[in-house]
Amino acid sequence: MERTFAYLKPNAIQRGLVGEIITTLEKKGFKIVALKMIVMDEHLAGELYREHTGKDFFVPLMKFVQSGPVVAMVLEGENAIKRLRHTVGRTDPLEADAGSIRGRYGVSVRKNLIHASDSPESASREIALFFEEREILDYTLAL
Ligand code: CMP
Repeated sequence: MERTFAYLKPNAIQRGLVGEIITTLEKKGFKIVALKMIVMDEHLAGELYREHTGKDFFVPLMKFVQSGPVVAMVLEGENAIKRLRHTVGRTDPLEADAGSIRGRYGVSVRKNLIHASDSPESASREIALFFEEREILDYTLAL
């Protein structure tokens, strides 16, 4: 089973969409093996988005993702990384499939509600930024 990382951005929490988004993920068969609510600090946000350092949207993105609590999670499943990206939809909600999470609820490219790792390398790196191994739990999912 593959693991991936996702977090719900501050606007998802502020808009009361946590339950709705998590329900969508559960219904798609993703197994939640770690989950926590945190406020990202400058260091964590900078590490998470280090590949975007210096881009024109970097500073506003940093500010936005630290503007309130986020819900971080580790999800497990077959082809979890690609399947989650598909479920989440393209970065810009205007280009995302209408049925995807960003297509359904996203407001703008910045306020696109949810982040999902884009590769196995990013997934391992991002999981390790947010979770210690002991926080990732093992249980049986009855599908
Ligand atoms: P995310 O999946 O979290 O990964 C990088 C984030 O940068 C992306 O979602 C968007 O929220 C944000 N982003 C990417 N491109 C732009 C852009 N052109 N303008 C504003 N934000 C952007």
